[in-house]
Formats: sequence, C-alpha cells, structure tokens
Amino acid sequence: MTLSTVDESGRPDARVLLLKDVDASGWHFATSKGSPKGVQIAANSHVALTFYWQPLARQVRIRGIAKDMGANLSGADFRARSISARAIALLERQSDELTSEGELGPALGRQFERLAIDQDLVSPSWTVFAVQPNEIEFWQGHEERRHTRLRYTRDGALWSRSLLWP
Ligand SMILES: Cc1cc2nc3c(=O)[nH]c(=O)nc-3n(C[C@H](O)[C@H](O)[C@H](O)COP(=O)(O)O)c2cc1C
Repeated sequence: MTLSTVDESGRPDARVLLLKDVDASGWHFATSKGSPKGVQIAANSHVALTFYWQPLARQVRIRGIAKDMGANLSGADFRARSISARAIALLERQSDELTSEGELGPALGRQFERLAIDQDLVSPSWTVFAVQPNEIEFWQGHEERRHTRLRYTRDGALWSRSLLWP
C-alpha cells in the first residue's frame, strides 16, 4: 500500500509499505519513528493510504489519523521480523545519506552481534501505527469508464455513504 504524509512545509511525501494487519483500530503498518515518515507523522498525524489491485480494477483510498499502537504491539512486531530486518532497523538510520557503500557492512555486522547476544533486542523507535479512517473510497473500474465510486465519510460514530461521479 502507499502511505502518504506531509512534511513540516506541507509538502506531500509518499512511499510503499507493508500492510501488517486490519482490525477495529484501523490499517496497521510498522516503521521507525526516527524515519522521515515517522517524524512527519509525529508533527502531523493526518495520513492517506492507497491500494490498487490491477487484475480486479479496484482502488481503495483511505484518509485518517495514524495512531501509535504502543510498545507491546510494536515490540511483538519487531520480534516477528527476520534477523536481517531487525538488524537493519537497529541501525536507526533509515533514509539518512549513506556516504559510501562500505559503511553499511560493518555497521550491520555490529547489529547482528548485538542480536546474537540478545535475541529479544527491540529497536526503541520501531512502531506499529494504525490508521483510523475518517474517509474511505472504494473505486471499481469499468471498461467504458463508468467507474463505480463509493465514498464513506465518518461523523463521530456514524458513517454516511455517497456515490461519486466517475
Ligand atoms: C514492497 C515494499 C514494502 C515496504 N515495506 C516497508 C515497511 O513495512 N516499513 C518501512 O518502514 N518501509 C517499508 N518499505 C520501504 C519504504 O518504501 C521507504 O523506502 C522507507 O520506509 C523510507 O521511507 P521514508 O524516508 O519516507 O521514511 C517498503 C518498500 C517496498 C517497495
């Protein structure tokens, strides 16, 4: 899925992330709080998610608020990751400039060593967020472009549904 955020100047930013879960809290994703997207969410928790299934000609668009799901869920998510994924996250350097490729190997080696000593090591910045939706649009493509578009809008506990022009 694509997660869109805005930076401190109001400029949009977007990237692909794994959808980790969907439940009553919303759509879950996991990332580092220290990454650009984590910093952007801390300053402005309004986000958008976009899904596209080409074989089904379906799109789902979600706008909502990204909520930190807390240390228990984030720790469990971190521990369930592969050792390589944990080592990379423990670098705590996501999206920093890599001045030379030679820097990566030794830095990663140190994280593998830390994990060998303590297999339960959890990155303190690893966070599961759930996007609580305020607006959801389901888009079903039509061969002759008469696409069906349904928008659900939340008002408190109530949802209203409207049909949109294609
Ligand atoms: C298929 C795919 C799945 C990805 N899943 C994640 C993910 O679950 N969490 C994550 O932090 N980055 C994930 N990434 C990397 C992000 O797209 C992005 O490069 C990275 O998180 C840095 O984003 P930022 O600089 O906006 O913080 C994934 C990339 C791809 C292509």
